[in-house]
Amino acid sequence: MVNITTKLVKKLQSAKFLLVLDRFYKATMLKISTKVIEVQNFLEIERQNNKSIGFVPTMGALHKGHLSLIRRSRSENDCTIASVFVNPTQFNDPSDFDKYPRTIQKDTEMLREAGCSILFLPSESEIYPDSALKSINFSPGPIAEVLEGAHRPGHFAGVAAVVKRLLDIVQPHRAYFGLKDYQQFLVIKKLQQFYQIPTQIIGCETLREQDGLAMSSRNSLLSALDRPKAVFLHQMLQKAFNQIMGGNIDFQSIINSILLDFEENGNFKLDYFDICSANSLQKVVNPEKEDLIICVAAFLGKVRLIDNLIIKR
Ligand code: PAF
Repeated sequence: MVNITTKLVKKLQSAKFLLVLDRFYKATMLKISTKVIEVQNFLEIERQNNKSIGFVPTMGALHKGHLSLIRRSRSENDCTIASVFVNPTQFNDPSDFDKYPRTIQKDTEMLREAGCSILFLPSESEIYPDSALKSINFSPGPIAEVLEGAHRPGHFAGVAAVVKRLLDIVQPHRAYFGLKDYQQFLVIKKLQQFYQIPTQIIGCETLREQDGLAMSSRNSLLSALDRPKAVFLHQMLQKAFNQIMGGNIDFQSIINSILLDFEENGNFKLDYFDICSANSLQKVVNPEKEDLIICVAAFLGKVRLIDNLIIKR
């Protein structure tokens, strides 16, 4: 009898068994809803039980970068909710919206496996029951006028409106955003300050593939031939990074030499390669003291990729 009990306890404690148990537990946990009211009812129960709520808004086509946001949220909150909504109003090019990857079944399984508590999967009419909700009375100012803002007119107005709407619905304690979209992160922080939204906005480091390419939903659109070429963006960011860290503060000469590298490479249609102040995204005033951001956006074939590296002073 003692022997059987010891064996059972050992089995229960074995890592493999615990893993199976953990998977089973997570698999039974994910609630999926397409309705605002339903999500709000789930969350109300969590709030009544004094549970903290972490929110990861996404446009789906999830990858390990998104999962790292879910992990971070799970480590800091009792309940994690993710949304998957491909927001039409932030696409300045309708064909970009049409071809944006949609992999909802795989996304659902990934979220279930990652231990997410709630998946909010709204339709467009659920997010925008009134078309007045598609725009808000908020202007992020100069941070939204450069880089992505200059190349994608209306993009940040669309992002701000949908994030405001999602935060109003979910009312999380914390919301998590990837720093690959650094400018978006600054705009959302401004939005939170402007409306005094009681949610902590948290930026999470960019995850990279083994060759250095920043993880992005758009990477899945790259052809097999283009995929290995994409790492060039990271290599150029790294080149600028190394030069600055080596003491070069002649940013224009760094940019010029990298523009030549892009020309020689010939695979990309470059939107911008720039070195800016990380706080204001404007021209650097104090190159040796300010935090900096080196950022790039370029088309490889028909796929537009962005990436950045931050230099903390
Ligand atoms: O970064 C994204 O995926 C989107 O811009 C966001 C924040 C979910 C808003 O649609």
